[in-house]
Amino acid sequence: MNPAAITCIEDLRRLARRRVPRMFYDYADAGSWTESTYRANESDLAAIKLRQRVAVNLEHRSLASTMLGQPVRMPVALAPTGLTGMQHADGEMLAARAAEAFGVPFALSTMSICSIEDVRAATNGPFWFQLYVMKDRAFVEALIERARAARCSALVLTLDLQVLGQRHKDIKNGLTAPPRPTLPNLIDLATKPRWCWHMLRTPRRQFGNIVGHAKGVSNLNSLSSWTAEQFDPALSWADVEWIKRRWGGKLILKGILDAEDARLAVASGADALIVSNHGGRQLDGAESSIAVLPRIVDTVGRRIEVHMDGGIRSGQDVLKALALGAHGCHIGRAFLYGLGALGQAGVTRCLEIIERELDLTMAFCGKTRVGDIDRSVLIENSLPR
Ligand SMILES: Cc1cc2nc3c(=O)[nH]c(=O)nc-3n(C[C@H](O)[C@H](O)[C@H](O)COP(=O)(O)O)c2cc1C
Repeated sequence: MNPAAITCIEDLRRLARRRVPRMFYDYADAGSWTESTYRANESDLAAIKLRQRVAVNLEHRSLASTMLGQPVRMPVALAPTGLTGMQHADGEMLAARAAEAFGVPFALSTMSICSIEDVRAATNGPFWFQLYVMKDRAFVEALIERARAARCSALVLTLDLQVLGQRHKDIKNGLTAPPRPTLPNLIDLATKPRWCWHMLRTPRRQFGNIVGHAKGVSNLNSLSSWTAEQFDPALSWADVEWIKRRWGGKLILKGILDAEDARLAVASGADALIVSNHGGRQLDGAESSIAVLPRIVDTVGRRIEVHMDGGIRSGQDVLKALALGAHGCHIGRAFLYGLGALGQAGVTRCLEIIERELDLTMAFCGKTRVGDIDRSVLIENSLPR
């Protein structure tokens, strides 16, 4: 399909649903339990109304900004997502390449299929590495060392997944990487020849950062059992400080939803925090990210870079988050749909769509520079309470 015929993220989602095996499409397009937080991320953003202005000089517009001091073409990064190499063969390498060529940051998940070293070899510039803290601290230290050796320019420490929220579909589908050759899986794969063809041509079908690196792990296919056994439920702020010292570089704390935790994040010495509910995949019933954002910005926004993710499906959504004080946004599913639909070209298309929407929406609101977007572009009584 011609990428130019894809005009919005919803087009990419529909195409990804046709092309990606069901268990991996469902893994992306799902939230925990009743999915109320997953839905609220999108619906709270959609409810915010914008203030149109006219007869403002709209020449010479620019979306250029910085994230953690790094120049970016627009303040949007690709969020870390597990099993990305199952949405499309070599998915993490393709997404990282698309992000690099476009000029936005890419964050590689601990639970990726392609390894840190694979992504290093596939790109030239710096990328970010997302760390999950496991009980085996020697393995955590080794991951930090590998990220350093790969010249990662920031460590994204995820704090909201020490226990795993239940996603019904993953259990019902028997999610594993690679899929087990059961009859229902084989029938489904038979309808996804493009995915199978690419997947047969790559050796990367397991958790690349784990298998062969963690002690005694030569074969790992279930994300949920690994999480339950290995992720450290005792993770504390003292551990965050230990990781900061060990890493020594830029540190981003991901999964902050509470003003008190935001204060503690600042006290830990982190460089940025991400207001995030993990895309509605963890605490079902938590507030949407956009509802929490203004509170966190009011509390710590002058002392730390506040980013946000959750529910961003358009440039309009990015503009709303920036208007409420986010320094930048991260996108998860939007780029995964692009990847599942069209590989690297789909991720590029996703970024182009969001860029164009952000640019035009900014112009309609009478602004020409992304740094000038503030609350004045929003209709106050449409904001989530
Ligand atoms: C399929 C999928 C896998 C994810 N895996 C991870 C992960 O490994 N590490 C992490 O910190 N966040 C992970 N996340 C959360 C994302 O980083 C991000 O917080 C979320 O996707 C933002 O919401 P959005 O998808 O609505 O943009 C994942 C999200 C999705 C959709």
